[in-house]
Amino acid sequence: MQGKLILTRICGALLLATTMQVWAHGDVTPQAIDITGLEPIKDSDTVFLDTNPYSGNEKAIEIGKHAFAQNCARCHGIDAISGGIAPDLREKLPLGPEGDEIYKERMVNGAIRNGVTYMPKFEGILKQEGLWAIRSWLETVSVDAPVKPASTTAAASTAVAAAPAAAAPATPAVARTGEQVFNTVCTACHTAGILNAPKIDDKAAWEPRAAKGLQGLLASSTAGLNQMPAKGGDASLSEQELSDTITYMLGKAGIDLAKTTSAAATTPAATEPAKPATN
Ligand code: HEC
Ligand code: HEC
Repeated sequence: MQGKLILTRICGALLLATTMQVWAHGDVTPQAIDITGLEPIKDSDTVFLDTNPYSGNEKAIEIGKHAFAQNCARCHGIDAISGGIAPDLREKLPLGPEGDEIYKERMVNGAIRNGVTYMPKFEGILKQEGLWAIRSWLETVSVDAPVKPASTTAAASTAVAAAPAAAAPATPAVARTGEQVFNTVCTACHTAGILNAPKIDDKAAWEPRAAKGLQGLLASSTAGLNQMPAKGGDASLSEQELSDTITYMLGKAGIDLAKTTSAAATTPAATEPAKPATN
């Protein structure tokens, strides 16, 4: 077990070296974790616990999912599905105390070898409560996790729970809204501007891109564009979902794509309502 782990780490480091230039500017400020609703850890600034105090805690899982997307996904992959430069934490991090120990070690020390930081340490940088929340979420996506939780925190989601083994790449029965897709997929980059992705609320960054119109943006997002992975890395997204998400994102930036498109294409504004609705 230990031998295999070490070998995996060496492979990871080699891979990392070859992809380093791509990620060199991925050195982004850690994003503070909002731990409202979590039971505080006693002396959390001075003592790092040995085991996860929030294992199975629904609130922690929710907080952790988001915090992972903001702080860890750029190296460990969106939804912990490793993109190759760092270990796949669904597979490499066992459940229970064994995994907690590995987790703690990395949070406290990071991974620094020969003066090269492969992974920054997070203890003292991010709140310990938030870090254990991430661990709680990681437990739910572990290959060893007993039950796959529904993708929404509302436990009523029967459609997802009914899905059988993980093997079948079944298309989701219910289309996700733009907001849902954004919050699970696109937020990893577009909230904090990871990899120089335009931030969701940065109107100035979006305006020149909006000139491509919805169809143009849909085309580039579907295919991928430089550091932007195809469909944001989620191949299961339907065209409609992706399109809704783009409309949602630009809406948040204060850009109405429908208007932008018609203006740019000099089509008569026939579809525009005669009177602007008050809202
Ligand atoms: C800058 C890239 C980077 C970021 C950001 C990053 N990691 Fe890592 N992480 C790595 C690399 C690379 C390794 C492998 C280190 C090694 O081989 O020594 C690693 C190793 C780990 C391990 C140990 C896995 C094992 O099998 O030993 C854990 C746990 C971990 N990271 C968790 C996290 C968490 C949680 C976050 C976010 C709070 C995070 N990492 C953020 C790059 C990163
Ligand atoms: C891994 C990070 C990452 C994720 C995840 C991601 N994006 Fe991006 N996105 C980028 C980057 C980086 C750019 C800027 C690309 C460029 O212009 O070089 C970008 C640009 C875009 C653009 C503008 C494209 C253009 O033609 O100018 C759209 C639209 C977009 N993303 C939509 C999405 C949507 C929708 C999702 C989720 C389904 C998503 N992105 C997920 C990194 C990401």
